[in-house]
Amino acid sequence: MIYPIVKYGDKVLETPARPVTQFDEELARLADDMFESMYAAHGVGLAAPQIGRSLRLAVIDVSSGNNPEARLVLANPEILHTEGEQREEEGCLSLPGFHAAVLRPKFVTVRAQNLRGEWFEIRGEGLLARAFCHEIDHLNGVLFIQHLSLLKRDLIRRRVRKLKKLGEW
Ligand code: NI
Repeated sequence: MIYPIVKYGDKVLETPARPVTQFDEELARLADDMFESMYAAHGVGLAAPQIGRSLRLAVIDVSSGNNPEARLVLANPEILHTEGEQREEEGCLSLPGFHAAVLRPKFVTVRAQNLRGEWFEIRGEGLLARAFCHEIDHLNGVLFIQHLSLLKRDLIRRRVRKLKKLGEW
C-alpha cells in the first residue's frame, strides 16, 4: 500500500517517535509499505512519521530500487560514530520543492534492529551517511531545515505558508 507523505506543518514530523517494541508481521508489512511509498515518491529514505506513524522505523535505499542489497530497514536506530564532513544539497519528501546545502558527517556508523529485532551495525559513507543522519533526525522530530540558518529556515517557512494559503501544500 502506498501512503501519502505527510508534509511539513504536521505535528507528527516534529514529535520524537516511539520505540519499536513489536517485531511482528505488522511491522514487516509497514516496512514494505514504506519502501513502496518511498519508491513511488522517488525518495532514497523514509521515516515512519512521514506516513503519520510515530514509530522509530526508517527505510533507506540509496540505489533507488536498482540494487536489492541496498534496501535497509532500521528499527530504533542510533548513531554510534561519525567521521569527517560533507556539505551537499539535501531535500526531504515532506518538504517537496525545497533543497539546501546541509553539513553532515562523511562517515556514519549506526546501530539498529532489523525486522526480527536483531541488533546490527552498519557503516555508511557519502549519501548513505547523509541518509542515516536525515532519517534518524526524523525519528527525533527534526527536519533538515533545522540545520539551516534562521534566515534560510524562515524563508522556507514563509514560502510554505504562502503555498498553504494557495491550497498547494
Ligand atoms: Ni526527510
